[in-house]
Amino acid sequence: MKINGTPYRSVWIDEKDGWSVHIFDQTRLPFALDVLTLVTADEVAHAIKTMQVRGAPLIGAVAAYGLALALRVNADDATLEDAAAMLAATRPTAINLRWAIERMLNHLRPLPPAARAQAAYAQAAAICDEDVAQNEAIGRHGLELLRALAAKHGPQKRINILTHCNAGWIATVDWGTALAPIYMAHDEGLNVHVWVDETRPRNQGAALTAWELGSHGVAHTVIADNAGGHLMQHGEVDIVIVGTDRVTRTGDVANKIGTYLKALAARDNAVPFWVALPSTTIDWTVADGITEIPIEERAAAEITHVAGRDDAGQIARVQVTPDGSTAANPAFDVTPARLVTGLITEKGCCPATQAGLLCLFPEKGG
Ligand code: MRU
Repeated sequence: MKINGTPYRSVWIDEKDGWSVHIFDQTRLPFALDVLTLVTADEVAHAIKTMQVRGAPLIGAVAAYGLALALRVNADDATLEDAAAMLAATRPTAINLRWAIERMLNHLRPLPPAARAQAAYAQAAAICDEDVAQNEAIGRHGLELLRALAAKHGPQKRINILTHCNAGWIATVDWGTALAPIYMAHDEGLNVHVWVDETRPRNQGAALTAWELGSHGVAHTVIADNAGGHLMQHGEVDIVIVGTDRVTRTGDVANKIGTYLKALAARDNAVPFWVALPSTTIDWTVADGITEIPIEERAAAEITHVAGRDDAGQIARVQVTPDGSTAANPAFDVTPARLVTGLITEKGCCPATQAGLLCLFPEKGG
């Protein structure tokens, strides 16, 4: 995506040294666009844990580069396995992280140590390129849904899309998942408008999705997380599109906390609820999302405090709860497949069922 006319990806290798890894510090957006240079696997793990880099596909891609950084220093078997275990332990819910590390290990283990670092960089670059191509394809398939809505309602009525958290280009290597169809619809002149859930506690919607959409010129309105149901009751939402951190083979969807409530409200109001994902987000080993997907529990401080920019222009954290109140912070929830209208993948759209997924990915069948 372009920032001030210059095209960027969310992760890249330094052109000059050819090996250091660069990301945008997402904890500083939307107030500052700071580039972080990562030179060790430990720094990559720290960036993922602290959510300087986030979003299911992107943490997989950055972790792959983390392995390459580890192997630059020492490419023996122990280093490879230890770095992989450390990176995999950073965040539990997004399956893309484990998928990328497994792919790297399968590729690198058989190689002689001397060949591993170079092969790791090439494999990480391939993961990035594939992610971009998959998200572009998701965009094209999702665009058909938005075109159909536009054809139904006519050019005068704006198409109101509600999204939760941030599943845009900054959460992937490029394009995004849920936002890719929206960018394409906007680019071809469809009258689209996005309701952006603020997405407490970390406000990825208010900070990141609003920043992305604004930078691209897409009409949007940030709303409190609790506003979506009300807007749906009043006919103000035509479609919900969200991303996901893990989809079971039966179509259950783990995504940012609060997604389930949006799906319930959407069902009650007959609003279509779509989930956009690359196939790297499907966990074919899991059937029941509610009992089998590990849900990350994050620090209570993310609930008790809110980060923002103060009147003096400084990024600050302020406390919003009384001293002594305890807080719980499950970071994801699971939306059962029965509440999902359909899945938008790089291979096309399908019902959120095992049969639907196997139609698109027959090679995963028994
Ligand atoms: O905790 P985060 O910000 O990494 O959570 C991100 C989400 O929930 C996204 O919706 C998901 O990763 C899809 S990103 C294309």
